[in-house]
Amino acid sequence: MTDSLLGTYRRAPMELVRAEGVRLYDADGKAYLDFASGIAVNALGYNDAGVNAAIAEAAATGLIHTSNLFRTAPGEQLADKLVAASFADKVFFCNSGAEANEGAFKFARRWARNVGGPAKHEIISLRGAFHGRLFGTVAATDRPQYRNHFRPLAGGIHIHERSIDELSRVISDEQTAAVIAEPIQGEGGVRVLDAGFVRELRALTAERNVLLILDEIQCGYGRTGSFFAYEQYGITPDLLTMAKPMAGGLPMGAVLLTQRVAEAVQPGDHGTTFGGGPLVAHVANHVFDRLRDPALLAHVRREGEWLGDQLLALSARSAKVRAIRGRGFMWGVDVTDPAKDVVARALSQGLILVGAGDHTLRLLPPLVMERRDLAQGLNALEAAIG
Ligand SMILES: Cc1ncc(COP(=O)(O)O)c(C=O)c1O
Repeated sequence: MTDSLLGTYRRAPMELVRAEGVRLYDADGKAYLDFASGIAVNALGYNDAGVNAAIAEAAATGLIHTSNLFRTAPGEQLADKLVAASFADKVFFCNSGAEANEGAFKFARRWARNVGGPAKHEIISLRGAFHGRLFGTVAATDRPQYRNHFRPLAGGIHIHERSIDELSRVISDEQTAAVIAEPIQGEGGVRVLDAGFVRELRALTAERNVLLILDEIQCGYGRTGSFFAYEQYGITPDLLTMAKPMAGGLPMGAVLLTQRVAEAVQPGDHGTTFGGGPLVAHVANHVFDRLRDPALLAHVRREGEWLGDQLLALSARSAKVRAIRGRGFMWGVDVTDPAKDVVARALSQGLILVGAGDHTLRLLPPLVMERRDLAQGLNALEAAIG
């Protein structure tokens, strides 16, 4: 084990050396069933033949990277597909979730300055939110331990309660550029925003000429059983951010925008060297086609419902489970023990889980996981909860 890596993570002790399907293997040959997907990234599992072929095809062209100063086909094709599949008219590609949200904040402010002048710059996020760890996004992230050591944070970004009454008091046409929300808060404990709340928030922002940004970095791209999570709420946002599963494990993010916001953004307003490069975008085209497959989305809805039923039964028979929440292949389990202890016990039994706060476990299996593997994971989960 090296001492050379900066200590930003408490890594699990085993060294992962290969993976296949929904299992990872360590240097001793021990198998781990994956209920985390590399934190909601590996939707198609591991060593997927289609993803591997897409990487090889793209590499064979010799064009791994060109910069955004030149046109390449894969990014253009993917942008067309995303526009055709969503509310959006334009797409901006980047390399991560936080970078997508930073871009969305800038695009929102660019639009707001045009329509309302410099006073209209405020960005509002919600209690429990996680939007990333960069300077703008950490200011919109509601976790004191991620924020406190880095003050002063970026200005003009405020966190408010998930309450229409409060938001109605603080959102103003004159000062607010945008509100950002995760339809299902991930890191904040897998909190599914209530459909009524989301619809009222959409109506409130529209009425006050404020943009609504949906952060679907964790909950989008099929994870909750529809391609975009917003489809289940009967509303559309003005901007939407995504990242994690987009390119089969390669780094990629994107911002989707409506025409009126896109029109405000001019050449030079924003940029990124790697974003939407030909190799990642070629792989992302393949992943898009696979995750748009109605059969896969039906699998996530059906097996996700079964998963929810099993978790409910578990919560009924275990005094150590306080509550469960979720949808599709994204579930949170509140436990009485510290989540990190349960995660460690699960790992020793060959199950990979992640936490979401001090007492919440997060279940994010690859979207291709079959019932027998889900059932094996649930057995190991129950044993780890104790
Ligand atoms: C909802 C949400 N937004 C933003 C991010 C930040 O993404 P990244 O880690 O790729 O910067 C995450 C990451 O967990 C996330 O879950």
